[in-house]
Amino acid sequence: MAATPIILDCDPGIDDAIAILLALASPEVELLAITTVVGNTSLANATQNALNVLAWAGREDIPVAAGESVAIGPPNDIPWNDAIGVHGETGLDGAELPRAASAIVDEHAVDLIARTVLARPGEITLVATGPLTNVALLLERHPDVAPALRDLVIMGGSLAGGNMSEYAEFNIWCDATAAAQVLDAGLEPVVVGLDVTRQATLSEADVHALEELPVLGPGIHGMLLFYLQKHREWHGKNAVQQHDSLALSWVIDPTLLVLRPLALGVDASDGPARGETYVSDQPAAAVTVRWAIDLHAARFRELLLERLAALAAAR
Ligand code: RIB
Ligand code: CA
Repeated sequence: MAATPIILDCDPGIDDAIAILLALASPEVELLAITTVVGNTSLANATQNALNVLAWAGREDIPVAAGESVAIGPPNDIPWNDAIGVHGETGLDGAELPRAASAIVDEHAVDLIARTVLARPGEITLVATGPLTNVALLLERHPDVAPALRDLVIMGGSLAGGNMSEYAEFNIWCDATAAAQVLDAGLEPVVVGLDVTRQATLSEADVHALEELPVLGPGIHGMLLFYLQKHREWHGKNAVQQHDSLALSWVIDPTLLVLRPLALGVDASDGPARGETYVSDQPAAAVTVRWAIDLHAARFRELLLERLAALAAAR
């Protein structure tokens, strides 16, 4: 079966970095480009981290384009201040990756995505694992892109309580205005929220075993051990959630997730519930998303560990 060409819009960020490695390791996907957005860390850090992860994996051939450094809507300041506690000062704390010699392409993320998608209408899936600022601007500045996308997959939202606030999941919280625009664009994206990603975990033993992988093992171990410690501190859990890899895994093996069409609302106010996602109670509300209601957690974990090992062995 031919590989699905994807563009990954992300905010690396430790779980974004693991998702990049999973994409590189999976023959079911062809990673055409990475675009970056402010979220887990500053845009500058996220962009350098994307370059460093690709170089570390021997894939400097994959272009990286920087996107937006500030959200469209409130909070408008740089929300990454709030994420330093999770991904660290660099956005990839725990791993000392060599600084890539490669540079970003001289094109805004939104324009790279539009140019690439319009050149291959119906073929390319956009996977968004950070705040939706770039995606919203893409749909606004290039309205012809929406019908040309093969699919849109989003890591974001929650119907089971937030991780950034009582109500909101981080990616949606960072730019709820952008999220509302994207969810209202009629694309019916696959949306993979905390309801399932909280169960998509690697154990402490998994994290330590990864250290033994060749070349990539120490770096993967370092970043995941840092992230695991934050899970212990923030969630009291001794397992590390792989939010972004689970979203990507739907492109690799759609049977890993159970989806349900529903009308997903988002609170785009600047109030305490900003970023909350909920099932719309409007009578006859139009379906807006394919929401992930369940996952095959054991098969996902096996896939991720197997693919990381294969990528490391090939380095
Ligand atoms: O809430 C989890 C999401 O927020 C993940 O994408 C993680 O990388 C952070 O961006
Ligand atoms: Ca992310």
